[in-house]
Amino acid sequence: MDATVKVLEAVASRFDLNLAMTSALMGGAAIDATGEPLPAATLDQCRASDAVLLACIGGYKWDDLPRATRPETGLLALRKQLGLFANLRPAKSFAQLEGASSLKDEVVNGVDLMVVRELTGGVYFGTPKGIDTDPSTGARVGYSNMVYHDYEVQRIARVAMDIAMKRGKAVVSVDKANVLEVSQLWREEVIKVAADYPEVDLSHMYVDNAAMQLVRWPKQFDVLVTGNLFGDVLSDCASMLVGSLGMLPSASLGDGSGPGVFEPVHGSAPDIAGQDKANPVACVLSAAMMLRYALAETDAADAVEAAVEAVLNAGWRTGDIMSDGKTLVGCKRMGELLVEAVSAGGK
Ligand code: IPM
Ligand code: MG
Repeated sequence: MDATVKVLEAVASRFDLNLAMTSALMGGAAIDATGEPLPAATLDQCRASDAVLLACIGGYKWDDLPRATRPETGLLALRKQLGLFANLRPAKSFAQLEGASSLKDEVVNGVDLMVVRELTGGVYFGTPKGIDTDPSTGARVGYSNMVYHDYEVQRIARVAMDIAMKRGKAVVSVDKANVLEVSQLWREEVIKVAADYPEVDLSHMYVDNAAMQLVRWPKQFDVLVTGNLFGDVLSDCASMLVGSLGMLPSASLGDGSGPGVFEPVHGSAPDIAGQDKANPVACVLSAAMMLRYALAETDAADAVEAAVEAVLNAGWRTGDIMSDGKTLVGCKRMGELLVEAVSAGGK
């Protein structure tokens, strides 16, 4: 986040943007300061803003807390409270990162897909849920409930179709309709929405097959639309097409009445925390998505993305994307290089 704020300051100065930035605590830092993962003051501050840029929220220190006060609970509450039902996770390969993916270059070169993940429903939020004792056997039993209402499916399907209309006009809806009733409803509702988008080519894939197809031949995909849990899993999987989770931004959007949240797909990587090793690019590209989608500053967004390209072209790499012949830098230096590239200009 420190690196990204500096990049935003640089782009604001270059394009004369009047960008007022404030910061608020959330996740582990908020738990330490207030005992809660999402303090009311933070939520109010988010609501009063045009957009929220979110860093990462967890770590070993908070892993054993009761669920209600865990960092992740704060993140889910933020998404729910701001009504952010649509999570956009683009995976676009960078020509400069050839060799960084664990998959063969011919499989990943030219990948350009978008995972549209439903974010405020499904098994993450469905009730009943809990850990109880089965009265008849005395066995412990844990349960969560995958629930979708027709309107939840319809609105995320519309987001996916609208995005597809601006891209390759192809949507694959991912479900498990061969087993789950909730997925059967999902599929039926997606098909209904697709009737309004005659130009979009809609197909359906079971989630197990989709996972396999993503690593077999990802270039078959344009837009994938799926539920909360399947999208969580598939978007991590898609990140490896680009070479590193450290490169993937995301946008979480609602109906437009409040701010969206822009955050890297990756988590807090507690194993390398404080070592200046993290890749700031996912957060910087999330800021670019924020400029583009929330603030309508297209030139500034283009400039930030161009800066990432320029720094990669010049051979600078953090550890997660390092390869032979490139120059290894830490998080801070990578941030400085991005600031220099933004300030130097070029689109
Ligand atoms: C993500 C993360 C979160 C999720 C966790 C941290 C709650 O994995 O944004 O993908 O599961 O949604
Ligand atoms: Mg995840």
